[in-house]
Amino acid sequence: MTKLLITGGAGFIGSNFIHYILKKYPDYEIVNLDALTYAGNLENLKDIEENVNYKFVKGDICDINIVSDLVKDVDLIVHFAAESHVDRSIMDSGDFIRTNVEGARVLLDAAKNNGLIRFHYISTDEVFGALGPDDLKFNEKTPYDPRNPYSASKAAAEHLVRAYFHTHQLPITISNCTNNYGSYQFPEKLIPLFITNLMENKKVPVYGEGKNIRDWIYVDDHNAGVEAIIKKGKIGETYCLGGGNEIANIEITRMILEKMGMGEDMIEYVPDRKGHDFRYAMDCSKAKKELGWEPKMNFDEGLYKTIEWYKNNKDWWRRIKSGEYKEYYQKQYHER
Ligand code: NAD
Ligand code: DAU
Repeated sequence: MTKLLITGGAGFIGSNFIHYILKKYPDYEIVNLDALTYAGNLENLKDIEENVNYKFVKGDICDINIVSDLVKDVDLIVHFAAESHVDRSIMDSGDFIRTNVEGARVLLDAAKNNGLIRFHYISTDEVFGALGPDDLKFNEKTPYDPRNPYSASKAAAEHLVRAYFHTHQLPITISNCTNNYGSYQFPEKLIPLFITNLMENKKVPVYGEGKNIRDWIYVDDHNAGVEAIIKKGKIGETYCLGGGNEIANIEITRMILEKMGMGEDMIEYVPDRKGHDFRYAMDCSKAKKELGWEPKMNFDEGLYKTIEWYKNNKDWWRRIKSGEYKEYYQKQYHER
């Protein structure tokens, strides 16, 4: 499988995935289909713009004409494109249902109608709901229990992906991953928001008491897991991927403050997220056993690297925070 259609490749994980694949497999051909929503930024891919094996297409995954045209030439679809921010889904879930559910349906139909193209769906641990402090970690057999509009839309898409496998024998795999961090993450998510706020001498908004727990994985470790599934995963199967770093938000906040030489006076406790899931954690033993995959990055080192990246790429996030990135990196592309 050397011709890949990546959806959402101008976002955080997708752009890291494209870099990861082209570095490791320079002869692979990649088409990146991305609508360039607020979260899509072509600056993430500036260094490979001229690579002959890479092509960018601006387009919506809900547009069956664009999608059908593109899938004809590929032997694998890796579907990252989504509305990904929980807080936005709480404010308005419309785009989440459209992109995350209808978009997945359009891609699945295109894959089905063009010779059953191999399809990998990038999902999230949030589809399994929320854990209490002493609950066992999620695994591939955990029942779905999404509790916010974002995770409900991701779970709905997963049901469709599995339905196309059972009904149409579409060769699918699914990965459910925990919270990613690393370079090119949009500064609305916890880690990049806090790092960039502190660089601007602004306080960091901790929801509630900061006791909620997430399992953090370095983005390259996630992408190595996706690579392993594409290469060795069993068709029709789900694989849980996680970093093995369960940390409360307030602890992460303190780690960031400490690494950036700032004190607790920079914390602002703000009202909690509605329906805030308490804890996510993943049991990754299936991926380890069947794929030989496990996360490599130590959290302390990964956080240090991430802070350094944001320090060394101030123009990148300042253009995002000011809205200027839309002007410079999106205007040159037009809908097909
Ligand atoms: P992101 O918000 O950074 O990027 C999403 C990308 O999708 C953007 O480039 C955007 O322009 C594009 N997009 C949105 N709607 C589109 C549409 N209708 N048509 C075409 N392109 C569209 O997201 P991310 O954090 O990189 O997440 C990528 C995927 O990984 C998502 O499916 C998300 O659910 C999943 N995931 C994310 C995490 C995480 O911690 N960020 C963890 C597990 C799973
Ligand atoms: O678990 C995987 C999911 O991780 C992905 O599917 C989502 O796409 C991704 O956005 C992420 O969701 P979270 O809601 O866990 O990530 P976020 O960075 O928004 O929040 C992490 C935790 O930090 C969460 O408990 C809420 C809290 N938080 C977040 C923000 C933005 C704060 O306390 N303050 C904040 O300003």
